[in-house]
Amino acid sequence: MDAAKEEFLKEFGRDYGYSGAPKTIDEIRATEFKRLEGVAYLDHAAATLYSELQMEAILKDLTANIYGNPHSQSDSSFATSDIVRNARQQVLDYFKASPKDYKCIFTSGATAALKLVGEAFPWSHQSNFVYTMENHNSVIGIREYALEQGAQAYAIEIEDTERDAFTGNIASVQVTKHQMLRRNEAKFLAKNHTGSAYNLFAFPSECNFSGLKFSLELVKTVKEDSIRYSDGSPSSNGHWKVLIDAAKGCATEPPDLSKYPADFVVFSFYKLFGYPTGLGALIVHTDAAKLLKKTYFSGGTVAASIADIDFVKQREGIEELFEDGTIPFLSIASLCHGFKILNSLTIPAISRHTSSLATYLRNVLAALRHENGTRVCTLYGSCSSKTLCNKMGPLVSFNLRRPDGSWVGHREVEKLASLYSIQLRTGCFCNPGACAKYLDLSHLDLVTNIEAGHICWDDNDIINGKPSGAVRVSLGYMSTYEDVKQKFIDFVTSSFVSMPTHSRDLQFCGRSIPFTDTGFESRYSAFGVDLKSITVYPIKSCAGFSTDRWPLSSRGLLYDREWLLQSLTGETLTQKKVPEMCLIHTYIDLSQGILFINSPRCKEGLQIILNSNSSNGKREEISLRGQIYQVQGYDKEVDTWFSAAIGRPCTLLRHLSSSHCVSLDERDSVGTCRESRTCLNFSNEAQFLLISEESVSDLNNRLNSTDVGKDVRRTSVQVNPMRFRPNLVISGGRPYAEDEWINIKIGNKSFRSLGGCNRCQMINFATDAEQVLKTNEPLSTLASYRRVKQGKILFGILLRYECEAEEGNSNNSWLQVGESIIPDSKQLGDTRRIHADMVVCQVGKSSR
Ligand SMILES: Cc1ncc(COP(=O)(O)O)c(C=O)c1O
Repeated sequence: MDAAKEEFLKEFGRDYGYSGAPKTIDEIRATEFKRLEGVAYLDHAAATLYSELQMEAILKDLTANIYGNPHSQSDSSFATSDIVRNARQQVLDYFKASPKDYKCIFTSGATAALKLVGEAFPWSHQSNFVYTMENHNSVIGIREYALEQGAQAYAIEIEDTERDAFTGNIASVQVTKHQMLRRNEAKFLAKNHTGSAYNLFAFPSECNFSGLKFSLELVKTVKEDSIRYSDGSPSSNGHWKVLIDAAKGCATEPPDLSKYPADFVVFSFYKLFGYPTGLGALIVHTDAAKLLKKTYFSGGTVAASIADIDFVKQREGIEELFEDGTIPFLSIASLCHGFKILNSLTIPAISRHTSSLATYLRNVLAALRHENGTRVCTLYGSCSSKTLCNKMGPLVSFNLRRPDGSWVGHREVEKLASLYSIQLRTGCFCNPGACAKYLDLSHLDLVTNIEAGHICWDDNDIINGKPSGAVRVSLGYMSTYEDVKQKFIDFVTSSFVSMPTHSRDLQFCGRSIPFTDTGFESRYSAFGVDLKSITVYPIKSCAGFSTDRWPLSSRGLLYDREWLLQSLTGETLTQKKVPEMCLIHTYIDLSQGILFINSPRCKEGLQIILNSNSSNGKREEISLRGQIYQVQGYDKEVDTWFSAAIGRPCTLLRHLSSSHCVSLDERDSVGTCRESRTCLNFSNEAQFLLISEESVSDLNNRLNSTDVGKDVRRTSVQVNPMRFRPNLVISGGRPYAEDEWINIKIGNKSFRSLGGCNRCQMINFATDAEQVLKTNEPLSTLASYRRVKQGKILFGILLRYECEAEEGNSNNSWLQVGESIIPDSKQLGDTRRIHADMVVCQVGKSSR
């Protein structure tokens, strides 16, 4: 055992690992979660994982028993009814809810349960819907029903709590009201006040943004009307009903309804034990259930109805009244196998286990410092009795900062984490109130972000210097110390914490690429940099062919990416989705004017005549990355051939010589360097990708070295320049010299560098014996030293041909292997700035 784990166990050993349970954590992982080998799954707040034994038990149960529709009267239907009855009881037991007082209504999830309450709650224009700022959107959405009925709705923040000196119970809670929301006030003002309004107060048992666990004592406080507003206004008249959103908290601390008699509790089962999805429940107090108004009737909820007159008799039972249609009885049948796991481990032990890991993680992250002493991590949420939080849940949410104090975008962390097989969540987690509160985003910030087109899951992770979301690590009952320390903490430390030994790489991360002012041209010509190979990829994402000389066109290498494969739904196919595309080999014989295509999956090869108009395929216009293309399809036989080659239906399209060249509109062009000045074929970003053999060989040295990072999964992968799908490979000079180039001559042809090429997972695909293999390399290693701000990982440079001719086969220029490469240093002072901008604005990952 390593020293760090010993240290961890010294502090948390009593809580970590289920020592008293039938299986320890290591046994659980080894026998029930074999599929997690090599992966750190840290997104249990979104969905926890099912155990492999749980699924075996479910399969055995379903294949051994006959479960019929519970609305029938057969033996199999009675078997189902028994199972459903037992499941309801298990749910009530889980929340310590007496079946006398509570009912379990199955829904399709927590959200559906919340919607049911919102729809059926007895709102009036005197009602209040009050919720904490830390509520999920699915709770906040209830306000639509409230506002429609003239009720007022507002969010609150808990500011202070006073406790009774003798009993220690909460005497009152002081809260700050956010803006009061009301609609159609005039319409409802005319109505009489009846005095018996129902109000709803909703809070999460655990905030899914910060992990803060609200004290369930709030239930009594609200019901006893002990809320005091900080502005001195009275709390509302009428009856208060309390809803606990237990969707996040229920996996490790289900609300105890025998102590805290809430009226409504909602949750989803996949958050408890991973399977089934599409099933949740509303636990409702029978008194509160009587107030709910059910409008719709359906199969399942109706005792009798007459088709052609307004007569309906709804069912009496609370569950039956609210469960429309046939309940998902096979999913319900599988619940007992999930509860079995939780019961065998016990909830208090699960809670201690997960919270030991979260506390450890929080402590380590809080202590992390850069070499200049600045904090690496800003953690969100902390517990205090004043804010009515009893403790923190097994969730850690934070953002990272660079040594200069600037923020590291959360999407950057997420993308990099995925290279290390770490799965976590970033963004605002559907919790807009907590997000605004913890990230200090004003209404103006939020509206500006939304108007600028920001949506929760996009890549705009830093807007006007502020994070627009956070990174969230959340733990489940099967999470381990190794997930947290050896995977996650080591990843953060090696990727984001500056240490003296990393200074070279950090310089790169902080400021793009170093420049040398003098002797540029002479140095390179002296070193003899020349063109080593030329590769043409006629069909986007398929294999290309190398050649000694090739004509240039105004769109790059003649015929390069002139064709693409499209799915039947119009999606452009690339290796990212269809790795088999790299097994399709292409070759163009210019003298015959034929494109030859082969695939190991097709007996016969295919030939496409380059200058033929004989194709029966229709012409159409397609839009791709902001550019409109006139394209031509092919005969059915061609599409059938490609469909067989990639194992899914597709069509081949060719980019016709067209004047429909549209530059990106301003909005699209923000943050992208896609070539907008000249027409491109179907390449993503630019006409050419240039790779240097010296840079590849430096990369291979790093892939070989044992002291790069601490990622144990790194094997000694070696890559060949062709792994990067370059058009041009050069040889000579020093590694990464190409980063500094601006204008380049190859022989007597002029090119301009558009900056570094942002690499994606596609470079991790390797072909071996006609099989496509995917590993973490070389992207993981590149990420460790070629990452620039915004998380882009640059390798190779993109070029544009500075062609004088208009369109098509330009001025009869050819590139020739062996030609020398001369970087132009004449405009160095001026162009250095342009180059630096180019480097940082590459956004779309290249899938050339
Ligand atoms: C706190 C909270 N409430 C509600 C929900 C909605 O749950 P579901 O998507 O299962 O309906 C979630 C989902 O993550 C949640 O975390």
